[in-house]
Amino acid sequence: MKGLQNKVIIVTGGAGGIGSATCKRLAEEGAKVAIFDMNLEAAEKLAHEINSQNGQALAIKCDITQSDVVEQAVQQIEKELGPVDGLVNNAGWDIFKPFVKTNPQEWEKLIQINLVGMLNMHFAVLKGMVARNSGSIVNIASDAARVGSSGEAVYAACKGGLVSFSKTLAREHSRNNIKINVICPGPTDTALLAGVTEGASNPEKLREAFVRAIPLGRLGQPEDLASSIAFFLSDDASFITGQVLSVSGGLTMNG
Ligand SMILES: NC(=O)c1ccc[n+]([C@@H]2O[C@H](COP(=O)([O-])OP(=O)(O)OC[C@H]3O[C@@H](n4cnc5c(N)ncnc54)[C@H](O)[C@@H]3O)[C@@H](O)[C@H]2O)c1
Repeated sequence: MKGLQNKVIIVTGGAGGIGSATCKRLAEEGAKVAIFDMNLEAAEKLAHEINSQNGQALAIKCDITQSDVVEQAVQQIEKELGPVDGLVNNAGWDIFKPFVKTNPQEWEKLIQINLVGMLNMHFAVLKGMVARNSGSIVNIASDAARVGSSGEAVYAACKGGLVSFSKTLAREHSRNNIKINVICPGPTDTALLAGVTEGASNPEKLREAFVRAIPLGRLGQPEDLASSIAFFLSDDASFITGQVLSVSGGLTMNG
């Protein structure tokens, strides 16, 4: 892909399933990757793996729900790697329960991680991108935002908010040459999905139901997402902004 060489790109939740595949793919494309995650041990392990294969990566412990921590982490990246060219808002969390069985503490945690966290991240990087008149942001939502998903009401509300926030910011910052796009994974084989299915009364049945619903007949793999994320960040996508792409084996076929 064009234009990723030496670009400084932050990936939140970079040590998780989709995040780590994305960090590896971006490093293969020549980018300098900043792995932001709560799980520093996993982030450092991934950075070591990328650096030992001639890539460039830096692990940073960052809880995206804390605005001061996010500001400091972004400043550290700018000092150590250079100005931020790209951001992937990928960190996320979910629980699988009918809405009436959830409680306000669970809503609060879902909203903090899936909605407030990405607001903090945009706020921290956009000032620099505006000043440089350049930048690309990819936000990881979910097909739950587009078509709904039983058992994920508050999560879907956060991801729906992320989609409309992204379209609004894409309009606000088009004059600054900043592109903002959204990718919606469907069920993808990661720890998050394992957690979701474990919360169901029959986890194996739920997994089978997910696969049956996907026209291409399998769960997504993290690498399926990583390639689309890298594309949106690259110069190959320089005329694309405010768009929402489902990467889910045909689960959602939106016009
Ligand atoms: N896996 C799926 O089926 C699926 C489907 C639709 C959307 N998604 C979305 O894809 C994204 C990646 O999910 P995944 O499946 O790779 O999950 P994952 O659980 O494998 O990884 C999530 C990562 O986010 C990190 N994280 C959690 N809270 C954080 C915080 N406050 N600050 C910093 N890091 C934090 C975790 O430590 C973990 O490394 C999420 O936004 C998720 O909502 C996933």
